[in-house]
Amino acid sequence: MPENWANPAGLDLHLQLHLEKSPTRPARALEHALRTAMADGRLTPGTRLPASRTLAADLGVARNTVADVYAQLVAEGWCEARVGAGTWVGERAGHPRPSARRPAPGTPPLDLRCGIPDVSGFPRRAWATAARTAVTRAPDADLGYPPTQGTATLRRVLADYLARTRGVHGDPEHVLVTRGFGDLLAHVCRTLRTRGVRRIAVEEYGHERHRRIITAAGLTPVPLPVDEGGADIAALPGTGAGAVLLTAAHQFPTGVPLEAARRVEAVRWAERTGGLVVEDDYDGEFRYDRRSIGALQALAPGHVLYAGTASKALAPAVGLAWAMVPDGFLPALLDSTASAGGGADALHQLTLAVFMEEHHYDRNVRRLRARYRARRERLAALVADALPGCRVTGLAAGLHCLLELPPGTPEERVEQAARERGLLLEGLRTFAAAPRRAARRPALAIGYGAPRAQRYEAALAATVEAVTAAIRPAIRPGA
Ligand SMILES: Cc1ncc(COP(=O)(O)O)c(C=O)c1O
Repeated sequence: MPENWANPAGLDLHLQLHLEKSPTRPARALEHALRTAMADGRLTPGTRLPASRTLAADLGVARNTVADVYAQLVAEGWCEARVGAGTWVGERAGHPRPSARRPAPGTPPLDLRCGIPDVSGFPRRAWATAARTAVTRAPDADLGYPPTQGTATLRRVLADYLARTRGVHGDPEHVLVTRGFGDLLAHVCRTLRTRGVRRIAVEEYGHERHRRIITAAGLTPVPLPVDEGGADIAALPGTGAGAVLLTAAHQFPTGVPLEAARRVEAVRWAERTGGLVVEDDYDGEFRYDRRSIGALQALAPGHVLYAGTASKALAPAVGLAWAMVPDGFLPALLDSTASAGGGADALHQLTLAVFMEEHHYDRNVRRLRARYRARRERLAALVADALPGCRVTGLAAGLHCLLELPPGTPEERVEQAARERGLLLEGLRTFAAAPRRAARRPALAIGYGAPRAQRYEAALAATVEAVTAAIRPAIRPGA
């Protein structure tokens, strides 16, 4: 058990590496030792960590091992680093011990629900600077009522950004900016209804809120089965729907991509029938294993309405989403938007335009990608180690995945066991538009975006406990 008394900035730090538990994995042992020291308060926010070379020499491990562990902890938000200034314990750390002890009364719940981004690292300073620049620069004309379609500046910036990062085809004249995706979906559905559409096909698993918006706009959502290839597009013609809502890049919440043949099949259906494909690309920027698949919209810009949002890459509070709208659909959609009260907040739009033009948006996406990727890998490693019979499925992408449970495990029981441990978890069935098909294994839809960095370990520990507790009685009767 090598020990180390490093002396960073006058602070004695006693690290114990339990190498006997993982003799071939010094990185894992070091990571554990540092996390524990941060969690129990021995390493407090702002504390400089020893230089990787010094710590490596003290512990007798490779320098790269230390550097990799530091990088991992930075990616997860436990630590911060700057070239030339070293690595230190993050300001947001005040880390509880990563155990699943019963929460004290009044403690806010741990949260692993889907669809919630970690906003603790919101780039407040860069956003505030962009806001000041935007207001200073804005001509008087930009301070009037916002154009229904969105400010010309932001539409231009978005058209460039979407072409560059997602391969979306279209010019600023076809961009529409709205107050979030929900607002956009409501306008799209109302427009479809004025054109005589009564049904829209949706994936059988998805946001309940989106289905409510669809219904409130006077359309009926008709579920399409979802399997490992995404939505079953072959079932689309039989639904009688005039439009289909797809999360093609990363199905929400099962995490699978729409397979290539089905992407083509979906646009062929739209071309053949005059139907509209609504592509909800809510987390398309977040792919971790390789470059993202481009937007489906590029296959048929005249038939696919592409939608993106600032809620994941920035924060839901920004309250902006955007669409690249097919030519033939745009005038009617603008009418609907205007009659529902007009455009999104212009100052926010101008701020976002500056923020994107100065590449802060790209930078933030890159930073979040590293953080979410690390969280996902940590979850997958923990499940592989601690939860036999369970597995993490879905693309290495986005802010969520499925944690499949052993067949027969009641999802409700896991949710209840989690609640008792102060953790919010949701079973896959809670996203279902229709009763579950027998073939589908029970699963949890895990959102690893929601917790602040310093609560993530505790949320994972509570998950392991809750699943273990719920599985045990399920196994006993046959034992
Ligand atoms: C599937 C899906 N689509 C779209 C969105 C974005 O919605 P909004 O822009 O209203 O935050 C979310 C956010 O959670 C989502 O999960």
